[in-house]
Amino acid sequence: MTQDELKKAAALAALEYVEEGTIVGVGTGSTVNHFIDGLAGMRDRIVGAVSSSEASSRRLAGHGIPVIELNDVESIPVYVDGADEIDAALCMIKGGGGALTREKIVAAVASRFICICDASKQVDVLGTFPLPVEVIPMARAHVARELTRLGGRPVPRAGFVTDNGNLILDVHGLRITSPTNLETAINQIAGVVTNGLFALRGADLLLVAQPDRVLRLSAA
Ligand code: 5RP
Repeated sequence: MTQDELKKAAALAALEYVEEGTIVGVGTGSTVNHFIDGLAGMRDRIVGAVSSSEASSRRLAGHGIPVIELNDVESIPVYVDGADEIDAALCMIKGGGGALTREKIVAAVASRFICICDASKQVDVLGTFPLPVEVIPMARAHVARELTRLGGRPVPRAGFVTDNGNLILDVHGLRITSPTNLETAINQIAGVVTNGLFALRGADLLLVAQPDRVLRLSAA
């Protein structure tokens, strides 16, 4: 199976966790695109979706799935999203697609976070994938200096502006042994909107596709 076929297998396995008659939280990325395409097959059985990016909103709308504003929603039973890295405690690095802030907001409202990915995303220690940090443009240099002080090597993501009009610094060279501490520390830097560590609110369930089956793993 190709990596994309594995992503699709994980994504389709998540459909069974979608509760009929509810609003579904939808993440961003190539794995989630397969989930959205699968969700189209049950669009008459859900109220709609809250989306974490303009790209996912467009794909949902293209399938005729109502996209609902988060401010109009009181609860989201299930949020489905991919990850760039995930560890055994189901802490993640996310934001490879630059949608980390909206992803973190929708995940905060959701009762259950289901992560979908292929096995290449599983790691013992987070940090090989550069950690994305969304930054207010005028704070870029200050935040970069502070991230360097924390031991990372921040690199501005060239030519990229988030859906919120901000910049991304991708932080290389981190070996993240305390994800909750680092998530908190980075978020204290003035000018940081949020960072791509999802440790304070990690996944509740991981659906990870292998060539012969989709494994279901809860946090260790
Ligand atoms: C986007 C994300 C994605 O979930 C992450 O980058 C994984 O993407 P893909 O499913 O394309 O491998 O966090 O901001």
